[in-house]
Amino acid sequence: MTDFNYDRIKSDLNRDEILNRMHDTLSDFRYTHCLRVEKVCRGLAAEYDGDVERAGLAGLLHDYAKERSDQEFIDVIKNKNLDPELLKYNNAIWHGIVGAEIIKDELGIYDEDVLNAVRRHTVGATKMTQVDKCVFVGDFIEPQRDFPGIKEARKYAEKSLDAAVAFELKHSVQHLVTKNRAIYPATFVSYNYWIKKGEL
Ligand SMILES: [Fe+2]
Ligand SMILES: [Fe+2]
Repeated sequence: MTDFNYDRIKSDLNRDEILNRMHDTLSDFRYTHCLRVEKVCRGLAAEYDGDVERAGLAGLLHDYAKERSDQEFIDVIKNKNLDPELLKYNNAIWHGIVGAEIIKDELGIYDEDVLNAVRRHTVGATKMTQVDKCVFVGDFIEPQRDFPGIKEARKYAEKSLDAAVAFELKHSVQHLVTKNRAIYPATFVSYNYWIKKGEL
């Protein structure tokens, strides 16, 4: 049974049908992560007087396409004439930006607020809606997350969404540098924007 009412956000499927699809296409690990993120997103949206339904649905769907093959993402980028620059990247970027297209096609969800939050959850953006912020932060602090800095991240999320976004970007950039991993340019753009806001 559904605890939540997504009826107001047009979709070809109801929540139970969406959950069935997710259960079929995701590992248990990822599926339960999505459910936890949904819950945190709803909580954050409620706390900050936001759109609980959209934040929850976007949180639920944020990793919908995460376990698809590279070839599937490449096909979608080509078939939908998405920015060819995307081909230079990988799953980490694709599952958000390209994942939103897969959600449209498979679930019939065209709500741009929900889709943008999915697109932006991996690298953030300079202009983020409250739904975007809830998903970006909710993904980072869901209850099973455990990493150095998680307590601080949760504290910032209680203080303000903007502070939590800034902290998350700082933490992600630091982490990627430590691991000798490349940083997607949009991540730097987001980082510069949010760090200059001085919330930390
Ligand atoms: Fe993700
Ligand atoms: Fe996630």
